[in-house]
Amino acid sequence: MTLDERPALAMRGVTKTYVDGETTVTALADVTLDVFAGEMVAVMGTSGSGKSTLLAIAGALLAPTDGEIEVDGRPLGKLSARKLAQVRRERVGFVFQDYNLLPTLTSLENVALPLDLGGASSATARSEARRALAAVGLRERASSFPDELSGGQRQRVAIARAIVGRRRLLLADEPTGALDSVTGEAVLKGLRERADEGAAVVVVTHDARHAAWADRIVYLADGRIVDETRASQPESLLTGGTL
Ligand SMILES: Nc1ncnc2c1ncn2[C@@H]1O[C@H](COP(=O)(O)OP(=O)(O)O)[C@@H](O)[C@H]1O
Ligand SMILES: [Mg+2]
Repeated sequence: MTLDERPALAMRGVTKTYVDGETTVTALADVTLDVFAGEMVAVMGTSGSGKSTLLAIAGALLAPTDGEIEVDGRPLGKLSARKLAQVRRERVGFVFQDYNLLPTLTSLENVALPLDLGGASSATARSEARRALAAVGLRERASSFPDELSGGQRQRVAIARAIVGRRRLLLADEPTGALDSVTGEAVLKGLRERADEGAAVVVVTHDARHAAWADRIVYLADGRIVDETRASQPESLLTGGTL
């Protein structure tokens, strides 16, 4: 397999059980999923179906109970805690519903933070952060603080922070949950553009219109993938399906 044929994210037979006192909850059961560079996958399912658990395991925030995960061909199960932290920092970007921006830092400083923490020089971190802010259309708001931005702008700063340093795997957990539908649509379009530029994107969403930006939709129920569809291609609809 060449480098480009290798999935950016590979999950094989991933199971996660939470033990909470006397009760055991199976949050994920035997999930197998590949996501390639340039691909955007939407994950849908009712509350409690395991979506957030899937994303946390994909991004090495949480260890599975069973199964294997590879990010850019690196098997996470074999890595030390220190190496896992490095994979998270260098290869994985997270976007959450509530943005998770630091209120005392400007947009630029928030976006540069992962690179600063990774030991990049301040000049490199800032120039990469400027590039990432420009990519989400926020070049002009680099010195604004989070409370000076709209919800949609804050979420775009969070996306810039997730893509800074050209990380290949972008994981978004209900990134539009706190936004109105027009702004939410713009955030999804931004994630779509990152995929078109070569990132592997996994986005959890409740909204079928948002999921329509993805190449594939994966449906979870009780921790299992129960269905998978390819999103309809607008081009093939226009040309009567002859591509
Ligand atoms: N830290 C935890 N401890 C115990 N149970 C948990 C924990 N996190 C999630 N769960 C349970 O795991 C299942 C899947 O949760 P989650 O992945 O958050 O689903 P979703 O994001 O689809 O709502 C749910 O039944 C939830 O209650
Ligand atoms: Mg969730």
